[in-house]
Amino acid sequence: MSAMRIVTTRQQVRALRDEVASRGGRIGFVPTMGALHAGHLSLVERARRSCDTVVASVFVNPLQFGPGEDFERYPRDREGDAARLAAAGADVSWFAEVEDMYAPDHCSYVVQEGPALDLEGAARPTHFRGVLTVVLKLLNVLRPAQLFLGRKDYQQTVVIRRMVRDLDLETEVVVCPTVREPGGLAMSSRNAYLRPDERKRACVLWQAIEATQRAHAEGERDPERLERILRSPLEACPGLTLEYAVVRDGETLQPLRGPVERGVCLVAARLGAARLIDNGLLPAAAPDPVLDPAQWAARLQTDG
Ligand code: PAJ
Repeated sequence: MSAMRIVTTRQQVRALRDEVASRGGRIGFVPTMGALHAGHLSLVERARRSCDTVVASVFVNPLQFGPGEDFERYPRDREGDAARLAAAGADVSWFAEVEDMYAPDHCSYVVQEGPALDLEGAARPTHFRGVLTVVLKLLNVLRPAQLFLGRKDYQQTVVIRRMVRDLDLETEVVVCPTVREPGGLAMSSRNAYLRPDERKRACVLWQAIEATQRAHAEGERDPERLERILRSPLEACPGLTLEYAVVRDGETLQPLRGPVERGVCLVAARLGAARLIDNGLLPAAAPDPVLDPAQWAARLQTDG
């Protein structure tokens, strides 16, 4: 296998894209903000299966962080990320830079209504504007056949799918399962903000979601009772500040009236220095992949 290429400018990415197109290749794209873990790498591996050229981007996008959020302290590990992407089978890593991505007087944005307004959109009012603007730019430069996103950020998958549909972007969105640690905690770059005791308590997010999925599997269909089952372990967890815990329509993200045949549980909470989000489908999809610590260490092994 040839060595992974590293690019940093949009000009290099356009040249690469034209080269792949000229030989009739298919680009699979995995956008990230780096500090890569096995969840990110699972997207690269999934892309590997259906595309001949896998491109991952690493860019801590300032536009999607609000004032007072963690842009400055967001974990950055360029060398480690390059090694992990190479080991996971990426062909190209695009380490984008703010100066190359945004003109100093950049003033055009993608703003979405509907599913972008509530939940994360309400808690972080300019977040999806930043996500959609950067994702549109990345897609316009790279023009991938397929775009791989993690279900971990459920609302993000919904709003990106909507943008792709509404603005006629020619890429297929592929949503991949959430990769979890053995206790059920969804892997996240922001888990680095948790102290060891908080990390244990953070498993309550997934426990609450699983309890709701079990109640649904046993026949509970009342949206209010399902939400109570979701909320109660979270409200009982010491030190955890619940932002929302809701059961919503999986596509519109609107509240459900009537019996809940299908939907999604969505949770956001603060614990110590971290803001955590998680979700689970109703009915539950195939079990989310769990990596035991040995596997996990092997997956992140950077081999120098
Ligand atoms: P980031 O948080 O780095 O996540 C990059 C991709 O990895 C997203 O699609 C996210 O859903 C996925 N991901 C994160 N944790 C995961 C897990 N445990 N299992 C499976 N997939 C997981 O999301 C962003 O960056 C940014 O908003 C971005 C889309 C790159 C735009 O800046």
